[in-house]
Amino acid sequence: MDFKLFSDQLAHAKQDCIILGVFKTSDESAQSPSFRQLDSATDGQLSQLLSSQDINTGAGKITWLHQPAGISSPRLLLVGCDQADKFDAGNYRKACTAAGHALRASRATTAVCALPELTVSERDAEWTLLTAALDIDHADYRYTRTKQPAKDASQPSDAVAFISDADARVLSQAAAIAAGVQSARHLGDAPPNLCTPIDLADHARRLADDLADVSVEILDPEAMAELGMQALLAVGKGSANPPRLIALQYRGAGDAAPYVLVGKGITFDTGGISIKPGPNMEQMKYDMCGAATVLGAFEAAARLQLPLNIACVVAAAENMPDGNAYRPGDVITTMSGKTVEVLNTDAEGRMVLCDALTWSARLKPAAIVDVATLTGACVVALGHHAAAIMSKHDELAEELFSAGQLTHDRAWRLPLWDDYQQQLDTKFADMKNIGGMPAGSITAGCFLSRFVEDQRWAHLDIAGAAWEWGKNNGSTGRPVRLLTQWLTDRSSA
Ligand code: BES
Ligand code: MN
Ligand code: ZN
Repeated sequence: MDFKLFSDQLAHAKQDCIILGVFKTSDESAQSPSFRQLDSATDGQLSQLLSSQDINTGAGKITWLHQPAGISSPRLLLVGCDQADKFDAGNYRKACTAAGHALRASRATTAVCALPELTVSERDAEWTLLTAALDIDHADYRYTRTKQPAKDASQPSDAVAFISDADARVLSQAAAIAAGVQSARHLGDAPPNLCTPIDLADHARRLADDLADVSVEILDPEAMAELGMQALLAVGKGSANPPRLIALQYRGAGDAAPYVLVGKGITFDTGGISIKPGPNMEQMKYDMCGAATVLGAFEAAARLQLPLNIACVVAAAENMPDGNAYRPGDVITTMSGKTVEVLNTDAEGRMVLCDALTWSARLKPAAIVDVATLTGACVVALGHHAAAIMSKHDELAEELFSAGQLTHDRAWRLPLWDDYQQQLDTKFADMKNIGGMPAGSITAGCFLSRFVEDQRWAHLDIAGAAWEWGKNNGSTGRPVRLLTQWLTDRSSA
């Protein structure tokens, strides 16, 4: 989808559709300039429909007007924005998302969108423009890898022109971030028989081919064995799809210390010998969404040509039960030299990540952030609205938290106090891989913390945020926006 700015007379715009925000008010001066312009072009039709309550002004509710008299475009999409004085980031995103879905389902493939002209509390015109472009692009997404659209299906949008005072450069930023989000969602939604560790590695190779200043290194099991990555290898042992450690590097800042993103890439999590129950197991194809989103954020950052060095490290493996699989009771020596007693093979994410974190330390990072669908307990704690942030570094936790607040791709901090560490004690190794029922997300974070020692490190548990459950099930691309914002903030800090 192409993004541009629109600056002509709205009533004369010859696009398939005009998208207009409408507040819940009888005071016309509280509506946007575009609303007033179209109201007079239609001889007061909009204000009449508003007073007869034929326009739904609830946040994100839509009303279509076809062939409106006095307007050159054949369709007017009215989007409810609720009260103007309570118009916050949440309601704005509801409006943009609803507009995007309605546009995508319609026969229109070009549009002018007046939403960025609205004033959103605590946000500037750049944010409002960027967010509209990203939310509309998000709604335009369709999974296509194994299902082709029906011949008569509605088409994706070709181009959307926005009414905004912000600089047009915001739209090229939006295009870069949208590409990262789309890639992450395509990877996340792909079935586990196609999206294997080798498939993820192929994706990384393509990124290195297509993007400037990007190189890739891929370790196969032999290379991993030489480095002593026994924890990552143990998880992959039960699978016919061998594991990979994938490392991308983007050089935008000479020899500066890199920011390192590490992703959990379990392409399918059966639980292994500690096998999961059958119902909903297919959702565990999404267990590589940490990998998908660090790859997506990395792609966005490289397309943005940020003046930073960035590395993206993916620990890719499939967790299957088999004659070769690792078992409960096994003691594994990790790349760090620390030993782990495996008490549940379903706690595999921390096993693959610990070796990826140890490997990443060699890059002498400015900061490391790992991203993982790590614990079901995280969904219990925060539901689907927030990722969990865990870090011993208050400043880094705050940076990630603010990036989440600004983008509305939100995250919330959980403590990583040393008090929790004893839950990992065992007689038979330096630690066990599970910490029992209490604070399951935190003890997983504590486990990872033992492999990063004094580095600036944070862990994001995205178990609830990475994909939508139920009827609209599918990958969300979260937290690509948060991560991209965090990196962008680092380049201006
Ligand atoms: N990938 C799962 C976590 C998960 C479960 C994410 C459901 C999203 C939805 C992870 O590998 C896992 O199985 N974790 C276990 C840990 C336990 C064995 C300590 C869990 O959460 O039950
Ligand atoms: Mn598991
Ligand atoms: Zn898992």
